[in-house]
Amino acid sequence: MTNFSEHIKKEPFVTISRVAAETKTSVYVIGGYVRDLFLHRQSKDVDVVVVGSGIAFARKVAAAFGSGVNAKYFKNFGTAMVRYKSWEMEFVGARKESYRRDSRKPIVENGSLSDDQKRRDFTINAMSISLQENDFGKLYDPFNGQEDIENTTIRTPLDPDITFSDDPLRMMRAIRFATQLGFSIAENTFDAIGRNRNRISIVSKERILDELNLIVMAPMPSIGFELLDETGLLKNIFPKLVELKGVEKVGNQSHKDNFYHTLEVLDNLAKKSDNLWLRWAAILHDIAKPVTKKFEPKTGWTFHQHEFIGEKMVPGIFRNLKLPMNEKMRYVQKLVRLHLRPIVLAQDIVTDSAIRRLLFDAGDDVDDLMQLCEADITSKNEYKVKKYLNNFALVRKKLKEVDKKDKIRNWQPPITGEIIMETFGLAPSRKVGDLKKIIREAILDGEISNNFEEAYTFLLEQGRKMGLGVKKVVEIPEEGKEITNDNKTNLK
Ligand code: CTP
Repeated sequence: MTNFSEHIKKEPFVTISRVAAETKTSVYVIGGYVRDLFLHRQSKDVDVVVVGSGIAFARKVAAAFGSGVNAKYFKNFGTAMVRYKSWEMEFVGARKESYRRDSRKPIVENGSLSDDQKRRDFTINAMSISLQENDFGKLYDPFNGQEDIENTTIRTPLDPDITFSDDPLRMMRAIRFATQLGFSIAENTFDAIGRNRNRISIVSKERILDELNLIVMAPMPSIGFELLDETGLLKNIFPKLVELKGVEKVGNQSHKDNFYHTLEVLDNLAKKSDNLWLRWAAILHDIAKPVTKKFEPKTGWTFHQHEFIGEKMVPGIFRNLKLPMNEKMRYVQKLVRLHLRPIVLAQDIVTDSAIRRLLFDAGDDVDDLMQLCEADITSKNEYKVKKYLNNFALVRKKLKEVDKKDKIRNWQPPITGEIIMETFGLAPSRKVGDLKKIIREAILDGEISNNFEEAYTFLLEQGRKMGLGVKKVVEIPEEGKEITNDNKTNLK
């Protein structure tokens, strides 16, 4: 099929086409919108290439849309963004030179349609459909993008060394599209990524991260990570993940390959959750295994403390990748730190206090933690998988029961630091923190009840043991002004 007028006989294309006729301009839809038409994917993101000035033409289109239009013009980039209803249209003048979105150099708009198509990233993104009156709906596909879509192939229109040196981010994009669409990368394009991978260093980390996150959010992210690894790009952008690769053997004892295990966990999780940060927790949950690996003759391979060391490694990795150093990072750290805890709770005899502790430590993220743990089961033995899943179902049940009874999620102990300072006349110090912790632990262990009176009596006792004199006895806070969520609950 070469005519697509039926697909574009609608707004906003009709208006753009009318303006093209009135101004005698050659205008085409290009890129993702056309690709997605063939993939039967609905899109409201439209790239329009104009033979001439993209900005001048976009101004006229914006005027034709009239009220309700929102337009922005970027002189330096030679582009315009026009928003109308739910459509987002980007207008750009056809270029002879390389197609670079983030170039700081002003763009020379002096190419023909075919010049422009040549400088695009992939054949499937270089197809265009005419919006002109005389050949409205005609497909211009000089590099057989349509065929590549049918054969599910990612291929550069020109020699890949040229396309990738125009913008090395395209190496990441090739892998990202392959992952999102389940396509393979043509051999010469694939080989060129390996050859050019060091050029990725000239691309900003933010742009790399955008592509990486799209890979992480794909239905089967392992495809992308394996391609990144096979082309060598992963070493450039995320070397710590590569360190997970490999299996060592002592005698007949070997450990599993933690790279492929991590990818399996990530895929498992991707089937259940669209939470980007939970997916990052999956990527990083075993990140400290290489640095903690030891062979102990009695027990075999061990990775002692990898959850705690892993938690400490997270900020460095986030900083390097330009991931946000905020509560998202702390959430990932928390899940990495806690990822082994539910396994312990799967044993037959588990005290309420152990369950309470996990509820306290995980807070509202306890369900996400359970999802991560379930995804972490990658045994090939079906019987074992069933058994572990059953165990976790039991842990979930216990968590629910204890949570209902004790309401410990996001709970705050009844004695605050201020109360401790006031009682013993202390300045903010380590002692205050220690006392707070002792009280919290005693409540979580069920040694004392979760109410102010018992906790305060316990505090005075502990203070005495530490040789602290009482400066002032603090009154029980009034009802309603209480520090606890539920200080009536008896945790015993
Ligand atoms: N493009 C390019 N090289 C780049 C980025 C973009 O050649 N480094 C071209 C491609 O023709 C692409 C179009 O610009 O189709 C639009 O880019 P973008 O909006 O980033 O991607 P889409 O193809 O629309 O796909 P998606 O929306 O999935 O990102």
